Amino acid sequence: MPPPLLPADLPSPSSYIVMEVRVDLLDKRAQEPPQHRHLYFAEVWREVVVRLGMCGCLACIMPLLPTSTSEIANEGGRRLYSKWTRRTQSTHTTTDKQAMTTEGELVPAALTEDPRSWVGQHFLSVTQLSLPALELFLREAEAMKALVTAHGGDRRMQGRILGSIFFEPSTRTTSSFQAAFQRLGGSCLHVNESTSSAQKGETLSDTVRSMACYCDLVVVRHPVKGSVGSAAGTCPKPLLNAGDGTGEHPTQSLLDLLTVKLELGEITGKTVALVGDLKHGRTAHSLARLLCLFSGVKLIFVSPESLSMPEEVKEYVGSRGVAQREVFTLDADVLAETDVLYMTRVQKERFATTADYDAVKDIFRITPQVMEQGKSTLVLMHPLPRVGEIDEEVDRDPRAAYFRQMENGMYARMALVALILGVPTFHTQSRLS
Ligand code: NCD
Repeated sequence: MPPPLLPADLPSPSSYIVMEVRVDLLDKRAQEPPQHRHLYFAEVWREVVVRLGMCGCLACIMPLLPTSTSEIANEGGRRLYSKWTRRTQSTHTTTDKQAMTTEGELVPAALTEDPRSWVGQHFLSVTQLSLPALELFLREAEAMKALVTAHGGDRRMQGRILGSIFFEPSTRTTSSFQAAFQRLGGSCLHVNESTSSAQKGETLSDTVRSMACYCDLVVVRHPVKGSVGSAAGTCPKPLLNAGDGTGEHPTQSLLDLLTVKLELGEITGKTVALVGDLKHGRTAHSLARLLCLFSGVKLIFVSPESLSMPEEVKEYVGSRGVAQREVFTLDADVLAETDVLYMTRVQKERFATTADYDAVKDIFRITPQVMEQGKSTLVLMHPLPRVGEIDEEVDRDPRAAYFRQMENGMYARMALVALILGVPTFHTQSRLS
């Protein structure tokens, strides 16, 4: 039997790694006549497909190819591959090569409009994104919505596993990540606090590292702010922050932005009121930061005085020159000028005492009467769960977008995992040649 073409311990499947393997093997066969190299390419490709458990159909393979198959056949490969690799290496950082601060903290990579910049990366904070990166993401997410509507999904994640570790309750984030991965043909593993070895005293970073041994992508939620970022420092697979205490919830912001885009057509110039527990609400922290990428956006922070937006978020917004104002009542003036009303729950689990929580818990409530004061085009959103902030009667109002928002979570997460595992719908084939 001839020896296998690829090493048995082929690491995480990404286009980058696949390409590296191919280039390496091509180098070893450099003595072969150039006119035979395209045949060799086909042989290697078959092996890659088998090892990665991909179905091998053109739709799965094309995103990973450097250029069209005919060009590969015509050019024979080597010159093309080395050019591609040089370009890739100059724009690409693999997870284990990400920058560290002097304190040893991981600085997550910037994600750009080039899909290659997303491959293999951690996604820990919305500050990794630029406007062109978001535009790429939104395009990808809309394509995922169209894919689900037309075919229910596809097989591009076949053979890949998503692992999720949740140390806080979750309905939507866990289910939508799992649905997203499964709709793309992958499978999922899930552990939560009560079933994980954290019960035996294991550190978060060891739990995450263990999950990374079995999976291609790890999703983590944890009650301590900054904990997911710290675990990323030793995680060899892409790690996605699904909420770190009162810190950030970056994947929620992606679906929130997708919702605004789908509901209003554009985000530029919109007035967004973030309402509720802005002190503890990580979805509001991430969304306020992310909205700063859009010109003309105005932010209104509406909360009880004791639950106001943290200074670090207000400073971030201010440093980007975005208009912001803070108010402590949701009055008619605010409602009249608001395009997006983003409600949040008062986060009982973050209060020191029940009495502290009881003092503020019912402070804002959206009823049909409140909705009458809003614009006819108002978009009412909520990351959910709601615990009384929005009357069920409001659900019948066409402006109530929170269930559509929840569904968008699946499309947003399909787009995110496809970008991070290097199999997006939109890739820069033309730019690679
Ligand atoms: C949010 C969260 O976990 O931060 N929920 C969610 O992910 N959809 C909001 C919340 O719990 O209040």
